[in-house]
Amino acid sequence: MRDQVLRLLRERREEYLSGAEVAARLGVSRTAVWKQIAALRQEGYAIDGSPRRGYRLVAEPDTLAPDRVQAGLATRVIGRVLEYHPRVTSTNEVAKARAREGAPEGLVVLAEEQTGGKGRLGRRWHSPPGQGIWMTVVLRPPLPPAEVPRLTLVAAVAVAGAIRQVAGLPVGIKWPNDIVCRDRKLCGILTEMEADMERVHFAAVGIGINVNQDPAAFPPELRETATSLRAELGAPVDRAALLRAVLAELEAGYDALLAGRFAAEVLPRWRECSVTLGRRVRVTPVVPGAEVLTGLAREVAEDGALILELPDGTLRRVVAGEVSLRPEE
Ligand code: BTN
Repeated sequence: MRDQVLRLLRERREEYLSGAEVAARLGVSRTAVWKQIAALRQEGYAIDGSPRRGYRLVAEPDTLAPDRVQAGLATRVIGRVLEYHPRVTSTNEVAKARAREGAPEGLVVLAEEQTGGKGRLGRRWHSPPGQGIWMTVVLRPPLPPAEVPRLTLVAAVAVAGAIRQVAGLPVGIKWPNDIVCRDRKLCGILTEMEADMERVHFAAVGIGINVNQDPAAFPPELRETATSLRAELGAPVDRAALLRAVLAELEAGYDALLAGRFAAEVLPRWRECSVTLGRRVRVTPVVPGAEVLTGLAREVAEDGALILELPDGTLRRVVAGEVSLRPEE
């Protein structure tokens, strides 16, 4: 009944809706309606009310609860099933468990807070409550396992596009898949998969976006290198609206990938968003003891590898590593 009351209030945002009308339309008593209104207010919904005029929805709380996210979601598959957690260790861990249990393609596991958020290269991902988008999408691409890294490029293009669209911020992609603004990190992507030699069982695409954090609240070790959309814009961003845009962009990119249009559609957008290509960079490889390389970032290959031109003119493929855009430091 809560959801039905909320739906009616949302349908008639511009005007007051009398308690008697809600009661009649839902076939319940006016007291029952009043109780639901009180409960919604408890959840953070601002509902204006007067005995004479009735109720009007003024503002919704900034939560990522499925009813808020799915109202107006324009996807066919991705996010049609949403699993929402106020708090979880890591959405990637939950999504992988669900995928092993047979979860359908497109399941999105979403959390307000992660207590053990995972980053690339075994790092932790700072995921405070109510301020970011911490989510993992389960996909079952009919692709050879070697092509799964393309999903991460698809996701990076989707997030960059969604942020540009919803927040109007000129963000870029730093190789391999960080979304940055003024060289500071706004979003990271961690794709994990389970596969055998020929077939992918599932991929879990984990996306973490710093949306409404106060920059002063970042832990000291992140303060110089991370940022949030709110810090860049000077105003908070509606997380549910941004999430819907990310899911829609992700589905469009995934469809393009599966239709064989990765090179024609996704890669050009990745290149256009890239803040790495054409720059002199320093790359610290993942493998311990491997040499640190400095050179010109020439190209990104279809498998996501960075093609680096070394000072002697030779080209080197780098599959995984950490890029610094200030090689002299
Ligand atoms: C990176 O190090 O750049 C990748 C960060 C990925 C973080 C996201 S937050 C949602 C999902 N769950 C996790 O534990 N990690 C990813």
